[in-house]
Amino acid sequence: MKPLIVANWKMHFSLVESICYLQWFRENFHGNSHVTFCVPFTALSALRYELQKQKKDVLTIQHRISLGAQHMHYEAEGKFTGEISAIQLKELCDYVLIGHSERRLLFGETDQQVHKKIIAAHHVGLIPIVCFGAFVAEKEQAISSFVEKELEQQMRNCLLGIDMQKKIILAYEPPASIGNGNAANPKRMNHILYFIRRFLAQHFSGAFAVKTILLYGGSVNSSNAKSFLKEKEIDGLLIGTASLDKQEFTRIANLS
Ligand code: PGA
Repeated sequence: MKPLIVANWKMHFSLVESICYLQWFRENFHGNSHVTFCVPFTALSALRYELQKQKKDVLTIQHRISLGAQHMHYEAEGKFTGEISAIQLKELCDYVLIGHSERRLLFGETDQQVHKKIIAAHHVGLIPIVCFGAFVAEKEQAISSFVEKELEQQMRNCLLGIDMQKKIILAYEPPASIGNGNAANPKRMNHILYFIRRFLAQHFSGAFAVKTILLYGGSVNSSNAKSFLKEKEIDGLLIGTASLDKQEFTRIANLS
């Protein structure tokens, strides 16, 4: 399977910078991976236009680049100043990040909201990229049983009851590894993703567990990306800081 490399630009780049980045990326991307850019709402429309513009001449590369949003509300419409709904996003992109640890920590997003958002995204045909990360005390981070207990609770709250006929992507990002250069141990992350896949097999089906794409995220860069991608359970990467440098991100996308 070709790896899925997801860029999370967070709150970065003006419109012009976003367009220049994408144009540069398209000229320099020659890998086999699938790439999804999760960009600020303000850039979605222009980047979508940019991607459609040259569809004919670069078809082989083109169909492996897609767009995603970083956040959405679970209601379809209403009095929710500043929010955006799944149906509004569906006009502009195919993917949406849900439950990123920054949304959980800084904006109080709960597992219950994440669950509702997955259902709302599925309802309109958006593919949710749902982020998990066990918030455990520093000294408990290395102890699998603590991490797995917390992760299992998150998965129960967020996933039970979703439609397993619909596509979903799950990302595991240890909060202690996000944005600080402290990438986790690849073998250990392989073990955690195996734990996630086993949960899916037990609570949904074996087929669902096999087909669901699992990502690792947390301080991935072009030097360590391969060590994660070669692990059996890791189908792709979710990349924040390194995706802000177009050359560095392109190096990662070209690895496979
Ligand atoms: P990072 O961010 O690559 O900077 O650690 C990952 C993320 O927040 O998704």
